[in-house]
Amino acid sequence: MLAAGPKAGLFYICSPNNPTGTLTPIADIEWLLANKPADAIVLVDEAYIHWADAPNAAKLAASRKDMIVMRTFSKLFGMAGMRLGLTIAHPDLCKRMMRYDGQQVTYMLPMTAVACGTASLGLADKIVARRGEMIAVREETLAHLKKRGLPYIPSRANMFMVDWGAGKDPKAMQAAFLAEGVQIGRSWDAYPTMSRVTVGSADDMMKFRAALDRILKV
Ligand SMILES: Cc1ncc(COP(=O)(O)O)c(C=O)c1O
Repeated sequence: MLAAGPKAGLFYICSPNNPTGTLTPIADIEWLLANKPADAIVLVDEAYIHWADAPNAAKLAASRKDMIVMRTFSKLFGMAGMRLGLTIAHPDLCKRMMRYDGQQVTYMLPMTAVACGTASLGLADKIVARRGEMIAVREETLAHLKKRGLPYIPSRANMFMVDWGAGKDPKAMQAAFLAEGVQIGRSWDAYPTMSRVTVGSADDMMKFRAALDRILKV
């Protein structure tokens, strides 16, 4: 990133990344902080950090003036579309971000989002259990892909990229899954033979594995 934009004003790192699910090690973020232009900002999007079981970048942001960590309630908390999230950054940086609306809008939150977010904060045990279930079922599903001989990108998030193989069209695979009653995620031109699959409940992923076996006719 630094080679591509040595004078960039902001470096955006999504960790774990969407759609690959890969984690950027904290050491790499520290390297960027040490080597970037002094006035450039490093923004780390940690929308998927809860599934990574790895150190996060919040502590770094707390000790510097040139770094922002972003979190959202849209993923682990299942509140996508409800517009609730937060940034962790030095107060000076927060002030700079507020300049766009003079604090008129940024602090305003939908009441539904506030109610759901507040309720979530009291459900720590359930959140830990749900996260544990999803990590376990992700690993179980990746092990199944391995058994089937399907390559995948090892994921630290609640989704993974599976490679259907040379000549396979991910849109055709998506249609084949849909015919089995299972909706998988979309694909990207950058990964022409891959689909992103979101990790659901243990029951959802059992259905995914069964549909996969029927599609592969094993
Ligand atoms: C990397 C990443 N950050 C943020 C978001 C969305 O966050 P929010 O719903 O809080 O805008 C998404 C959702 O797709 C995402 O993939």
